[in-house]
Amino acid sequence: MLKGKKIVLGVSGGIAAYKAAELVRLYVKQEAEVFVVMTKSAQEFITPLTFQTLTGNPVHTELFSLLQERDIGHISLADRADAFVVAPATANLVGKVACGIADDLLSTTIMATRSPVLFVPAMNVNMWENPIYRDNQARLEKFGYQFMEPAQGFLACGWEGKGKLPDPAAIVEQTRVLLSPQDLSGETVLISAGPSREEIDPVRYISNYSSGKMGYALARVARRRGARVILVSGPTSLEPPAGVEFVAVTSACEMRDALMERQERASIMIKAAAVADYRPASASTQKIKKSQHDDLSLSLRKNPDILSELGRIKKGRILVGFAAETADLVKNARDKLEKKNLDLIVANDVSASGAGFDVDTNIVRVLGRDGSDEQWPLLSKEEVAGKIFDRILELERN
Ligand code: PMT
Repeated sequence: MLKGKKIVLGVSGGIAAYKAAELVRLYVKQEAEVFVVMTKSAQEFITPLTFQTLTGNPVHTELFSLLQERDIGHISLADRADAFVVAPATANLVGKVACGIADDLLSTTIMATRSPVLFVPAMNVNMWENPIYRDNQARLEKFGYQFMEPAQGFLACGWEGKGKLPDPAAIVEQTRVLLSPQDLSGETVLISAGPSREEIDPVRYISNYSSGKMGYALARVARRRGARVILVSGPTSLEPPAGVEFVAVTSACEMRDALMERQERASIMIKAAAVADYRPASASTQKIKKSQHDDLSLSLRKNPDILSELGRIKKGRILVGFAAETADLVKNARDKLEKKNLDLIVANDVSASGAGFDVDTNIVRVLGRDGSDEQWPLLSKEEVAGKIFDRILELERN
């Protein structure tokens, strides 16, 4: 979603200024266009040439020399931003903007922009906690400027505490929030993701190929669009998305309990998890040994159908299910939509290439209780997630 977006990155003078180079690299990797504005002090820590090389764009440092070139003056810089990020933001810069002082290119450009602005403070912990700084940040927040919390750790000044620049990947994610409509704010979205694992004995289990990618994409997109997100996940190798309430589970029964415990808080529920329909009737407490017999039978017991249970108690809330099919996609998905009392079902033909398990893309057909039926083309799982939330908002409006 950063592709083609114009990001103006303000760099002010703190030791963390060198980390802004990594941030630029991540933006450029996402195909964003980056324009860097540096304060005089920032240039003591890192040179404009570094940013110019990484962005392929001239770096802006001087207020007065730029005014001579009208098309790249500070107003033009301010106007071209889709998002304005200041990282690191020093106490001095935050204080200046909070007081309306615009005496250099960066402070002037921040005050002139109409794009959303994100400050990412990094400073000594005592400066961060100083009531003058806190007051300045609160004043800017009151006017709609956004702030990230500094990270905790050992600071370059020798102190330990809050004040480090957050991880550049987290700043990139927060930039996506800045660029997203906040049309899910006020919603609480409960999502299930990943596979369930059903224990046979201490070293073996029954499971499936779900990687969690689809469910985690839903969680990231919902959070970006302003929702509170609760993600209940079976075992995956993915990092839990930042800013979501994350609940790790293993078996279908644990997943059921975790979802039931939290469902009352949710206004939207989406079940992308691939839940095992059966589990071994009894898990052996010891590793099952090879016997003299060639055949070994495993007795299986049906797992709870969590989606059906949610369908029975959902009342007016939105409930979305997924269907992983290899044949009769539409018929099977429509049956599940009806039987499980869903508002939408997202049907994957998991035998199609680029769709379903453990890939970054999906091809889905989305059927609605209102009779709607849409075939979406091959899209990234994040794009699919975005379109699912668009459909949910349409359902809520009607
Ligand atoms: O995780 P990825 O690698 O990204 O793969 C994504 C996916 C293929 C897992 C996902 O897109 C998907 O299709 N998820 C649903 C898989 C599935 O279990 O489909 P199903 O047709 O068996 O189940 C239908 C629905 O009932 C699902 O919403 C499922 O979560 C739910 N269910 C199923 C069984 C059960 N005991 N309880 C349930 O709640």
